[in-house]
Amino acid sequence: MQSNLRKKLIQLFTEADGEFISGQKISEELGCSRTAVWKHIEDLRKSGYELEAVRKLGYKMKKKPDKISENEIRLGLKTKKMGQTIYFQDAVPSTQKIAHELANNGAEEGTIIVADKQTEGRGRMARAWHSPEGNGIWMSIILRPEIPVQKTPQLTLLAAVAIVQAIEEQTGKSAEIKWPNDILIGGKKTVGILTELQAEADQVHSVIVGTGINVNQLKGDFPDELKETATSLRMASGKKVDRAALIQTILLTFEKRYSDYIAHGFQPIKLLWESYALTLHRDLTARTLNGTFYGKALGIDDEGVLLLETSDGIQKIYSADIEISPS
Ligand code: BTN
Repeated sequence: MQSNLRKKLIQLFTEADGEFISGQKISEELGCSRTAVWKHIEDLRKSGYELEAVRKLGYKMKKKPDKISENEIRLGLKTKKMGQTIYFQDAVPSTQKIAHELANNGAEEGTIIVADKQTEGRGRMARAWHSPEGNGIWMSIILRPEIPVQKTPQLTLLAAVAIVQAIEEQTGKSAEIKWPNDILIGGKKTVGILTELQAEADQVHSVIVGTGINVNQLKGDFPDELKETATSLRMASGKKVDRAALIQTILLTFEKRYSDYIAHGFQPIKLLWESYALTLHRDLTARTLNGTFYGKALGIDDEGVLLLETSDGIQKIYSADIEISPS
């Protein structure tokens, strides 16, 4: 099927939101005969769309395949800014790398880069991020906030809040945040966030928020070293999750939290973050590049820095791997 006819047909079904559309209406909208409509419907079925046909009522879409593409992300996207420019590719080394190049070339705020698979996915603290095809969301968002450099870690916390809210909305599962930006379900890591900056000493050019979400993996899909510590939304909820729909929900919650932040500052985000935080008031071990610290987590400050009450006084933790002591 010609790709723009296919796009138009998927768009019609998406807009109909599960209701029937008559064959007559489809043929008018697509500018082709009823027989041609039937052939296009058959083509969509072959690509994994579940379409029901009922005489006199027409056709309705019961299910979309779990496939992500620019079109799948765009259709039904309710944001004004986030995701209005989409770069989608089946496979890339790292969406962060592409986001940096695009940001350097002037990409506008809200531009997203999404791939079905990453071959060199990057995690925090120079680790690799396992990003196999078909099961996850590997996405980078370009932001251009007018804030001082030292406030940019706040955006990592904002992203974590937005993603927890989107996960809850889409799957009904509650998730928790382990400082600064791991999202866990049932104590296992489900989402990682990597925030990178393009900045000079006194000016932020762009902030790139990279999000890796384990969506539809089963236990056997994780490498051995992650099998006990990682989980996916499917494993946690018992249901396959529509990745394109989840991306749309994340972009919408992200846009809402980001506009709260631009209008009212960090306070509303901080309160939400604390309500989802797993790490507060618990005894922790924080492994930083400057040494290992033990203590009780008192909270975060307005820069998103973790405040740890150690035997030597309050220690500010800017970046670390956190281990929560059993309570
Ligand atoms: C972490 O270590 O917890 C952060 C992982 C971040 C992974 C995401 S996947 C999309 C984006 N592209 C990358 O290479 N990394 C981030």
